[in-house]
Amino acid sequence: MMDTLKIRGGVTLNGEIRAQGAKNSVLPILVATLLGKGVCVIENCPDLEDVRSSMRILRLLGCAAVFEGGTLTVDSTGMTRTDIPECMMREMRSSVIFLGAILARTGQARISYPGGCELGARPIDIHLSALRALGAEITEKNGDLECRASKLKGSEIILPLPSVGATENIMIASCACDGVTHIKNAACEPEIEDLQNFLTAMGARINGAGTPNVTIEGGAPMHGAKYSVMPDRIAAVTYLSAVAVAGGRVKISPVVPEHLASALAALSEAGCGISAGKDYIAMSREKPLCAIRPVHTMPYPGFPTDAQSPLMAMCTKARGTTVFVENIFDNRFRHAGELARMGADIRVEGRVAVVTGVEKLYGAPVACTDLRGGAALVAAALGAEGETVISELYHIRRGYENIENNLKALGADIS
Ligand code: EPU
Repeated sequence: MMDTLKIRGGVTLNGEIRAQGAKNSVLPILVATLLGKGVCVIENCPDLEDVRSSMRILRLLGCAAVFEGGTLTVDSTGMTRTDIPECMMREMRSSVIFLGAILARTGQARISYPGGCELGARPIDIHLSALRALGAEITEKNGDLECRASKLKGSEIILPLPSVGATENIMIASCACDGVTHIKNAACEPEIEDLQNFLTAMGARINGAGTPNVTIEGGAPMHGAKYSVMPDRIAAVTYLSAVAVAGGRVKISPVVPEHLASALAALSEAGCGISAGKDYIAMSREKPLCAIRPVHTMPYPGFPTDAQSPLMAMCTKARGTTVFVENIFDNRFRHAGELARMGADIRVEGRVAVVTGVEKLYGAPVACTDLRGGAALVAAALGAEGETVISELYHIRRGYENIENNLKALGADIS
């Protein structure tokens, strides 16, 4: 049977949600388990398609991986293979991080280009030039990347832009380097700090994550570790946006409110009432929404590109005009066309989208275009009159755990 969601909108949402573990933390953490021979126990692991894809890759490489009750246990002692076939590489973007880890562990690797959401060109040139700077020889043949490094050597790497994935790849590879690696202009996303904490638990000597300067002293013996993944800030914003569209009250925990500061400011400007405690956010949306100042997506701590589409869903019903400027990816407005099928008024011109609030959205058949774009359709459907049928749900399954049950618990009419 085709996986679709049917949502009858117009019901206000009330209740509590337990936030899932962060997708974009757990994926590089699972890759990093390759660094030490031994058992890693990863708690608060969300059950996502991308996590399942990572487990398949780990098993193919010779590791044991067992997922039970939110805990994923990886034993990388028996790792034997050093290549990942193209079909597995294509399943997600973070497959490219395996390159740094396999090289670090074995001195050789063969992979192809990664897949992931289509958000415009997503080159891996920064990953490759950084690994070359650490001493890897990388040649490309028929779409395969053949990599060798008899010895990785620490180096100073200045990133041309603060790429999240490249920062992670370098941090992981540098753990096996002779000497010290300094990453300048590193990404500062909280997920980078989570990776640093995990690497530290494995024995690495690394500091600076969360700032543009990360330092890794290579060569520390790496071993198994037990670690709990931080809460998913993007899933939290998605649920908040859904309640903002539909109206109602929600409490989400556990979260790190500071990780959500820029998104909370936007929700509050639109008219939502927000209070944050140490590890929770409570939000209510009672009065009509109003448009907000231009939203520019930026590297952390700026407004996250991953929250752009859910917030846009909210703005389709906010009185007035809101401008979105997407600065991270060249083509991340594909959800706008689907929102328009529901009656939204959105004009897209390159990296700018102009959203003029409408009185009402209407249910319609729509299709997910990518992970966060799909989540935006769910949010919009909850605030639309009538029934919306959402197809191509596999995009959503890659990053949201249990989305229909979480929304059902708030009172949503969803099946
Ligand atoms: N870029 C290059 N060359 C590279 C690497 C990146 O030109 O070698 C460009 C990209 O094309 C993009 C920009 O740099 O325009 C930023 O890309 P970045 O490398 O920071 O992103 P990523 O590592 O591919 C991660 C998240 C994305 C999130 C971005 C930005 C994971 C698995 N993915 O991607 O998450 O949007 O950082 O914060 O961590 C999502 O969860 O839906 C998602 C797409």
